[in-house]
Amino acid sequence: MQTSRRAFLHTAAAGAVVPVIGPRVLDVLERRLEAFGGLPPAAAAADEAFWNEIRKVFPVPADYINLENGYSSPQPAATFEAFQRHQAAINGGLSFYMRRKKADDLASVKKQLADLAGCPADEIVITRNTTESLGTVIHGVDLAPGDEAVMCDQDYGSMLEQFRQQSRRRGLKCVEITIPLHPKSDEEIVDTYARVITARTKLLLVSHMVNITGQILPVRKIADMCHARGVSVIVDAAHSFAHVAFKVPDLDGDYLGASLHKWLCTPLGAGLLHVKKDKIRGVWPLFGETSVPDDDIRKLERIGTHPSWTVLAIADAIRFHTMVGAERKEARLRYLQQYWTDQVRGVPRIYLNTPEGQRACAIANVGITGMTPTALAKELFDRFKVYTVAIDTGPVHGTRVTPHLYTTTAELDAFVKALKTLAA
Ligand SMILES: Cc1ncc(COP(=O)(O)O)c(C=O)c1O
Repeated sequence: MQTSRRAFLHTAAAGAVVPVIGPRVLDVLERRLEAFGGLPPAAAAADEAFWNEIRKVFPVPADYINLENGYSSPQPAATFEAFQRHQAAINGGLSFYMRRKKADDLASVKKQLADLAGCPADEIVITRNTTESLGTVIHGVDLAPGDEAVMCDQDYGSMLEQFRQQSRRRGLKCVEITIPLHPKSDEEIVDTYARVITARTKLLLVSHMVNITGQILPVRKIADMCHARGVSVIVDAAHSFAHVAFKVPDLDGDYLGASLHKWLCTPLGAGLLHVKKDKIRGVWPLFGETSVPDDDIRKLERIGTHPSWTVLAIADAIRFHTMVGAERKEARLRYLQQYWTDQVRGVPRIYLNTPEGQRACAIANVGITGMTPTALAKELFDRFKVYTVAIDTGPVHGTRVTPHLYTTTAELDAFVKALKTLAA
């Protein structure tokens, strides 16, 4: 208790979001990574010594190979340690913190997150997850009976469900398309969306990275096409944020949601909502807020009491992410995916549901002809202790395979061997 109180006072006096006692694991890691200098992304991708240092700060399961990092990410020790210290510090003076310090800390974390996202802090809200971020938009914009919204059968279920509810409640017409698993060009995808847009289309939902296959969609080109037709774009960046290196304005969506507990590796329950400045006025807060102007993004922040330590830990997660390097991270994650997919592409009975090259990064999906996805995932785990997740929806039938920064090529070799054994 004494330590917590001292630590809390230290935080309260600091005036900015700084880790409470000192970022110990982060400091050690930073010193270790100095040995690698400014390793460029292309060289870093296959530098096992560099990634071995990163692996040391992740909790790695002892009794199975975890290739299901698409659900959410474990926090690296560097963030987890800071998170626990924030929790202890706030707990040591809870109402004082909430009344005197929370608002400044929130503003500071928002600034850091906005810098990472490449957009102004007055266009973002820290939420609990993508479901909440995009739900705030789907339920917050005015919709009239007969208005149409376009989405894809490979979008995430929670978003599709929220649109279906708007269909029941407001008479919205949901138009669901199917996109090819192996597109020949960006235009093929853009045209698939463009074909269903009508004069009544108000909104279009697009996943930056499809969660069940890992396919990266040409969001900017889709947004350009939509804007030329007066349609607003909602970008689901749950999986792409802090996974592939991009800035939010690059995509030019009107609204964007991301889950920070996925690839930014924050504690569970941290998300981002970005709303373009000129669209803020048109979003009604779900919980009511009339004390700030209609075009002030803070009207969306009245969500009640929630764990402030999670918000603080976003700053620590950003520091870890920056230390690893956004471009190095993307290069490594794509390298790991291609390391195993290159070994199984063309092997009899094995098929991939994920496109090649820059159209995917860490996530890929694989199937074996004659085996259900459930059976494949089960065999991989029961016989080979490789954990993946079966996907059997719409046009996608296979198991999703998601390595992480802590995954080794030796683990992927074991997985490839298992896959080939099952296919033989
Ligand atoms: C594409 C996509 N969107 C949204 C979500 C929902 O994320 P959350 O549960 O963090 O709201 C997920 C979760 O996996 C996802 O993959």
